[in-house]
Amino acid sequence: MCRWSVLAKGATLSWVAVCTDNRRLMSTASLCGISCVTSSHSRRIILRSGSNQVTERRVYLDHAATSWPKPPGVLEACLEFQRDLGVAASRGAYLRGEQTDRAIAQVRSKLSRFLHLDDAYRVAWTSNGTMAIHAAIHSVLWQTDLRGEHVVTTATEHNSVLRTLADLQERRGLRWTMVPCDARGWVDPDAIEQAICSDTKLVIVNHASNVTGVVQDLERIGRIVANSEAWWMLDAAQSIGYVDFDPRSLGIDLVVAPAHKGLGGMFGTAFVVAASEVVPSLRSPWVGGTGRSSGTWTGPFEWLESVESGNLNGPSIASLGAALLSASTRSMADFQAKASDWLSRLRHQIARYASLRLVGYPDGPEDLQQVSRVPVLSFSSRTLGSHEMAMLLDSAMGLECRSGLHCAGAIHPFLGTDPQDGTLRMSFGHATSEADVDAAIQGIRLLGEVNA
Ligand SMILES: Cc1ncc(COP(=O)(O)O)c(C=O)c1O
Repeated sequence: MCRWSVLAKGATLSWVAVCTDNRRLMSTASLCGISCVTSSHSRRIILRSGSNQVTERRVYLDHAATSWPKPPGVLEACLEFQRDLGVAASRGAYLRGEQTDRAIAQVRSKLSRFLHLDDAYRVAWTSNGTMAIHAAIHSVLWQTDLRGEHVVTTATEHNSVLRTLADLQERRGLRWTMVPCDARGWVDPDAIEQAICSDTKLVIVNHASNVTGVVQDLERIGRIVANSEAWWMLDAAQSIGYVDFDPRSLGIDLVVAPAHKGLGGMFGTAFVVAASEVVPSLRSPWVGGTGRSSGTWTGPFEWLESVESGNLNGPSIASLGAALLSASTRSMADFQAKASDWLSRLRHQIARYASLRLVGYPDGPEDLQQVSRVPVLSFSSRTLGSHEMAMLLDSAMGLECRSGLHCAGAIHPFLGTDPQDGTLRMSFGHATSEADVDAAIQGIRLLGEVNA
């Protein structure tokens, strides 16, 4: 038995079905090529007909996942690299090989300058943020037996940190402490201080939450870590390109971030930036072809070369060069002022609907405690699940938002969000226009008024 109703009508239709046999309906729908999601709030299934069409207008609100569209020159740099050079880095003694090495070295220097660093730090390329995090953690904690080692991290971390630590705990005996956050996603630096003990080897901090956008207090955390024996690793995935920070003055030993989010680069490049004092103690979790000393296959090998084993993603690194050029012409302070106004308008719109719940603002939309934030906003609905909301916004208005837990496995109990359903997240970037923000406000109105 099925009861049907239309939830929203746009280029595609969103239908809601309340069914006695959801599993059968889901499998029939998927056989027919119809997109569907189940609601964790009810026994409802939401189906989208015409699911192969996308709406004419695209309002991209998922910049925390990856930025889109890319800044001018980024796609062209990728294409030019592939068309005009198109050879492997660190491999050839022919001219194009040398030009490739120089092009990649220039992007390393540009990135170092962007982070206010000089040769005292080393940039190692990886293929995405998750690989950079894995490389950094394993490079510090490379011993087979980790029973004497301890790591401090926070509840705001991405699963690429949490799962790596849990895996090292299970397989090699690592001990680690997860410092809680408050209902905004802010971590009290004093709690980090209390968690550090004499055998803490590494403190890992996510600079900005990918669920609430809250930015951590790096100055205070830096002073605390400096008073300990531990190294400090910063996950700047959500902050880089939006928040200016100086790893050297903050005493950060390792910075990891992907190039494809706030920096505006393409998929396929991320980096670990390591202070040169720590580099001799690091050991890469993987080894392989480096184009050098190929007659030896037993180490030790140089850390940076080993992390970069195999062919580098030259086109993507070249696109990061163009993205950094574009970033150097923008003011982060101007962007922050603009984004803070957007967030405020959206929060007040959410607060108008009793059916919607703003996440990460325990004092309400005024944000009385004034922590700084990157442009990320989460909310949930008392009647609709987060995936339902995302599908509705897309099918009715072409709004592309992220739903679920956002790979942030530990933060949700602290935010009071449903541990299965998570939040609907709208995130903004350098390419966001005022019209996009107006559309986001219309989207919130649709969700607030939908008769679920
Ligand atoms: C805080 C944080 N760390 C790490 C990552 C992983 O980056 P990537 O998606 O490039 O693997 C993300 C991605 O969303 C993130 O938000």
